[in-house]
Amino acid sequence: MKEIRKIGIITGGGDCSGLNAVINGITKCAVNKYGLEVVGFTKGYSGLYHNTYRPLDLRAVSGILHEGGTILKSSNKDNLFNLRVRNDDGSYEYKDVSDEAVQNLKYLGVDALIVIGGDGTLTSARDFHRKGIPVVGVPKTIDNDLPATDVTFGYNTSLETITDALDKIHTTAYSHDRVMVVEVMGRNSGWLALEGGLAGSGDVILIPEIPYDINKVVDKIKQRDAFGRNFSIIVVSEGAKPLGGEVTVREIVEDSPDSVRLGGIGSVIASQLQKLIPEHEVRYTNLAYIQRGGITSQFDRALGLLFGVNAVDLLMSGGSGRMVQLRGRKITSIPLDEVVGSGEVGETSKGGGKQVDPEGQFVQAAKAIGISFGD
Ligand code: F6P
Repeated sequence: MKEIRKIGIITGGGDCSGLNAVINGITKCAVNKYGLEVVGFTKGYSGLYHNTYRPLDLRAVSGILHEGGTILKSSNKDNLFNLRVRNDDGSYEYKDVSDEAVQNLKYLGVDALIVIGGDGTLTSARDFHRKGIPVVGVPKTIDNDLPATDVTFGYNTSLETITDALDKIHTTAYSHDRVMVVEVMGRNSGWLALEGGLAGSGDVILIPEIPYDINKVVDKIKQRDAFGRNFSIIVVSEGAKPLGGEVTVREIVEDSPDSVRLGGIGSVIASQLQKLIPEHEVRYTNLAYIQRGGITSQFDRALGLLFGVNAVDLLMSGGSGRMVQLRGRKITSIPLDEVVGSGEVGETSKGGGKQVDPEGQFVQAAKAIGISFGD
């Protein structure tokens, strides 16, 4: 294998807290430990195709550790193996432009890539590895739906945001005797709703893994009323669905590898509840993108740094085609082939990914303390 002297970093898919910690860890380790040059391609794979990048040195990554988002920007639309391109006549077609990307890498003298992303982004990483480019992957998502790693950066910061929001929403719920419906992200996994709802004292938690009956939700609210607690907090995962019903789709993003965007179920539930419990005022809040931003938590900074450093070590020790992962308290790695393209990495609406076990410890503990799942 050709000696690695210069590496490129790509951040693809939806942003989350901890991406800058990974960029920081990669760059510092690459420069300090291996004397490498580093560049960051901008806007995901789009930068690789359009040759837009920025040199990364110790100065460039100084002071970014705690910042949310990614200094390299991101995109979840640019699959270079199947890119939607506009023809002169205004029509669109899908083209494989990966050879042009490989040419760009050669032109820039970039010998290897570290790619940070979810299923779509890491599938392309695997495909560049197959084309002979040394590539290591770093998994990312706020949804905690990756079986290939115990947890990833981004999730912990999102949970902190959800917990903080629920604490704040509680004060209005209590003061006005209201029923507050709070929608959180997570795609087809209910982890954000479950762990955030537990920490933020949700009274009802609705998750994709346990289809709900709206009458059971009403029962819980009435039980609280009878107990003298005339307010309730209903935490709803964006992927929650009623018994025998379907998920609520917010929009279809045609040129995204995973085109379905969920959202709006909280609003549906709030309208239904308002009719069923007219004695209460029901309000709906969608936490949406505040769950992806803000200052990165201590856990996500540490994990991001560890992933970054270990990704460089893996690359330099010949581990191309693999992805770093957390198992217990240790960073290990797994072949990309074993985790991409099947929903295993988790950013998919196709039903793959690590889901909450309705019989598992978390749900059982929540039920034991009186939380309703609407079942
Ligand atoms: O996977 C992360 C995530 O934030 C999901 O929780 C959410 O459904 C989705 O991305 C939103 O995607 P977009 O940024 O394209 O709206």
